[in-house]
Amino acid sequence: MIIIRSIAKMQAYCRLAIKQKKTIGFVPTMGALHVGHLSLIRAARKKNDYVVVSIFVNPAQFGPGEDLKKYPRNFKADSRLCQKEGVDVIFYPSTEEMYKKGHKVYIEVKDLDKGLCAKYRPGHFRGVATVVIKLFNIVSCDDAYFGQKDIQQARIISALVRDLNFPLNVNILPTVREIDGLALSSRNAYLTSSERADAPVLFDSLEQARCLIKNGQRDAGKIIYKIKEMISGKESAKVQYVEIVDADTLEPLKKIKGKVVIALAVFIGKTRLIDNIIVKI
Ligand code: PAF
Repeated sequence: MIIIRSIAKMQAYCRLAIKQKKTIGFVPTMGALHVGHLSLIRAARKKNDYVVVSIFVNPAQFGPGEDLKKYPRNFKADSRLCQKEGVDVIFYPSTEEMYKKGHKVYIEVKDLDKGLCAKYRPGHFRGVATVVIKLFNIVSCDDAYFGQKDIQQARIISALVRDLNFPLNVNILPTVREIDGLALSSRNAYLTSSERADAPVLFDSLEQARCLIKNGQRDAGKIIYKIKEMISGKESAKVQYVEIVDADTLEPLKKIKGKVVIALAVFIGKTRLIDNIIVKI
């Protein structure tokens, strides 16, 4: 496994791989790797000749009051995990390497960056879209891998790839969960033990919603009410949003039909967690 810190070297590596007719699987991350990331790496390892993992905590996707400074960083542990998983390259640029002084170009995405998390994290998806496009221009991959947990991010990246004609497949893999249902996230590390005990309520409330739909409930408002009611039973939990949206367009729905995403963001203490499930009628 090699560690590359320069953009030019990373691009040269990809040019060589392409010349050798090897495929590249790319897993963009912000580090603090967990089993969710490993599932993406394993999928890449299975499908592609070379696996590149990027580790870059992207300042452009953090808002003013957010956790950029305290976001967990542990390159040693991350690189050990990557080595164990058979990763070929870690791309680990500095902020100065990624954002040259006077950086001027940012990517905006229409519609998909309106509801869900975008309402509460202004500028977040502009930052995600910008860094992902930059990364795709640095790591010329055949396949890129993302998790379903960040479903709005996943839809935005699929739109970028389609609309800006990147010659790569976007692979969205299922959310990996703890045994009690809590979706794996680097931010789970912030939870105290009592908050950690409350946190599975996110997934429990989504599963309750799935049950309601299975039993014939089609009124999105009533389902959202039930989810909020269940979450408010936990002392440390405060709902930021619960939405039911079309699975492709992410537009809010009043009546459940077709394939829908039930998505939520909840503060557990000071930690903001997100989760979602896809339900097909
Ligand atoms: O999902 C993440 O970890 C980040 O948003 C990503 C896609 C690596 C961009 O910084």
